[in-house]
Amino acid sequence: MYFQRVKRQKNAMKPKPSEFSLRKQAKRPISMITAYDFPAARLLDECGVDIVLLGDSLGTTVLGYESITQVTMNDIMHHLRAVVRGAHSSFILGDMPYGSIATPDLARGNAALMRSAGADAVKMEGGREIVPQVRAVTLQGIAVCAHIGFMPQTGGRPGIVGKTFDQARALIDAALALQEAGAFMIVLELIPHELAAEITRLLSIPTIGIGAGKSCDGQVQVFHDLLGLSPRIFRHVKDFAGGRQLFTKAILHYVADVCSGAFPAESNASAMPHEALAQLKDWLKTKM
Ligand code: KIV
Repeated sequence: MYFQRVKRQKNAMKPKPSEFSLRKQAKRPISMITAYDFPAARLLDECGVDIVLLGDSLGTTVLGYESITQVTMNDIMHHLRAVVRGAHSSFILGDMPYGSIATPDLARGNAALMRSAGADAVKMEGGREIVPQVRAVTLQGIAVCAHIGFMPQTGGRPGIVGKTFDQARALIDAALALQEAGAFMIVLELIPHELAAEITRLLSIPTIGIGAGKSCDGQVQVFHDLLGLSPRIFRHVKDFAGGRQLFTKAILHYVADVCSGAFPAESNASAMPHEALAQLKDWLKTKM
């Protein structure tokens, strides 16, 4: 089945952060996908994706780092600028990397850098302990999306968080505190779907799930995961494209065609005008 692209004009008005709460009220789910470069951001923008997230998954997905904790502000800024050049209508969310929000002052300064590079809002990973940072950044007029549940910046292996009563209660408590501190949205990563549904019900800001079930107000996926380009398929991922097989086939085809001489064809090259070619050949004779 094919779906129509959402037609949007270049430089169409971007939504304001507060408008996403109206989407929650209207029960119109929000789509978010990561992008790390210009072509991906442009594609997502053209497809009408609501939010393009420059996630710190940049580190492991694109930069080949062992851990997301190796991602620096410099990495984020470099890729953020590329994403901003590609996405004109989608709302752009920039992830604040490990260590960049260690104190409220640091968070304020780094969030301001990302805002000046074109991020419409920033995302911060952490529970109750980052309430002062969320409040500080929000108070300087920069919208903050919170992120709880499994938090890749802790460096641990991905796993479901919130299966016990104590964990579930702590997550609800954190979600409410982050909303109260001014967050306009919250990502719920790898938490049981019943808990995600309760958090979604309790909050007035939208919840965006990844491995958190269908009751969230929106969903986020990593670009390479949903296109089937990642080497590992997690339970919370759906491969919508079989990209790895598709790309492998295309690359092998290219290599075979180069080796056999089938590529490039005449139609892939350009010819010199006859007169210029004749002139060149005459001149070359004088060089022999
Ligand atoms: O960095 C990222 O890709 C993320 C999403 C998983 C939400 O934070």
